[in-house]
Amino acid sequence: MQFNILIIDDEKNIREGLAEAMELEGYNAFTAENGKLGLERVAQGDIDLVITDLRMPEVTGEQVLKKVTAENPGVPVIVLTGHGSIDSAVDAMRNGAYDFLTKPVNLDELAMVVKRATQGRELILQHRQLQEELNSSKSFENIIGKSAEMQKVFNLVKKAAASKANVLITGESGVGKELICNAIHNLSQRKDKPLVKVHCAALTESLIESELFGHEKGAFTGAATMQRGRFELADGGSIFLDEIGEINQNVQIKILRVLQEKKFERVGGTQTLDVDTRIIAATNRNLEEEVKEKRFREDLYYRLKVVEIHVPPLRERKEDIPLLITSFLSKFAEENGKDITGIDERARSALYKYSWPGNIRELQNCMESAVVMCEGTKITLDDLPPNISQASSEEVIQIPAGMKMEDAEKMIIMQNLAINKGNKSKTADVLGIGRKTLHRKLDEWGVSD
Ligand SMILES: Nc1ncnc2c1ncn2[C@@H]1O[C@H](COP(=O)(O)OP(=O)(O)OP(=O)(O)O)[C@@H](O)[C@H]1O
Ligand SMILES: [Mg+2]
Repeated sequence: MQFNILIIDDEKNIREGLAEAMELEGYNAFTAENGKLGLERVAQGDIDLVITDLRMPEVTGEQVLKKVTAENPGVPVIVLTGHGSIDSAVDAMRNGAYDFLTKPVNLDELAMVVKRATQGRELILQHRQLQEELNSSKSFENIIGKSAEMQKVFNLVKKAAASKANVLITGESGVGKELICNAIHNLSQRKDKPLVKVHCAALTESLIESELFGHEKGAFTGAATMQRGRFELADGGSIFLDEIGEINQNVQIKILRVLQEKKFERVGGTQTLDVDTRIIAATNRNLEEEVKEKRFREDLYYRLKVVEIHVPPLRERKEDIPLLITSFLSKFAEENGKDITGIDERARSALYKYSWPGNIRELQNCMESAVVMCEGTKITLDDLPPNISQASSEEVIQIPAGMKMEDAEKMIIMQNLAINKGNKSKTADVLGIGRKTLHRKLDEWGVSD
């Protein structure tokens, strides 16, 4: 990312000297010779960072600082103070300066402060851009997904919603099948009628029939009153049969009859009831396999999957991860009353590399626990569950060509030591060298502690 830096100083030499130094560091530098012109330049909206002298005629650096921090939060201001004026530096920090440097400016020091400030700014901008994407069209009926795969799913959902067809939603656990079902119902003409959900796996074989179709008084022991079933309750609306693969053959036949004739009887009843409902079924099993194995009726299978919507696993649509992270982060930060503005690069990259076997549900849980663990304003690698931070944090050590063997060795050892948080035995183990050797080398380099 190319950053625009504005330098405000009434002394021409300093102004131009700093601008040149910033250009050499790879930034776009702009200059203003007084506070008034500086503020006008900032108002144009594309300045990412301001470096301002403190003492200037008319509009002072302090006024610039106050105005920029008030009107452009997120644009860091670095203040240049005269030598020995500690008080004004303290004041500047109190007024929200990102940092201060005393004149004459040490250019290396300036470059470092600017680098730090722009990195922070980059995170804020990234977060803001993702927020904006979230607020715009990238979320569909509360389902986040800008990947081509999810755009295809959304298209299918719209078509299915507009039709009367039954829908079969397939996909691994946690990919969002229930959200898809909600979307189909909410976008359909049945949206003002009930959407009744049946979690088939949670019901015992004996219960499921009376749950679905209801029962008459006295139909079985314990049936003290007549009870309407879920199909009756879903009349005019939709019924969601979650984990349909768990239903036994006996009930499969009855569901098939509802599909074909729109008719059924309550358990223990003789009266035939009519029902008009759309069936939306979901499964994380491979129903085709189940049909081959004769565990699932073929005729039912084909009637359920008039429209089939397959929701791909998260690892096949990783572009959706950043947006999901941002959304869950805002949600859980708010719920936990925490002021968390983003996530640092290492944590973001770990989340990106992980394979997410539990899909979005797992990512959601991971973000909730990260928010709870987080002590600062940014999620870091340490806040993530160990299986995610470890599995994916392959650290890289880059050795420049032409580096002396001895220096390369030192670099490898020191960086591994850092990765292992200073644990010498562990470092010796990973590098496959003796502990004594490691100690001797550290002694040689004078870093044994
Ligand atoms: N694209 C998405 N955007 C936002 N939240 C999502 C998305 N997909 C799933 N979620 C959230 O992830 C969790 C799991 O989703 P859901 O219950 O719909 O998955 P499922 O496919 O039905 O899983 P299972 O097969 O285990 O029942 C829910 O809390 C849901 O809100
Ligand atoms: Mg589900």
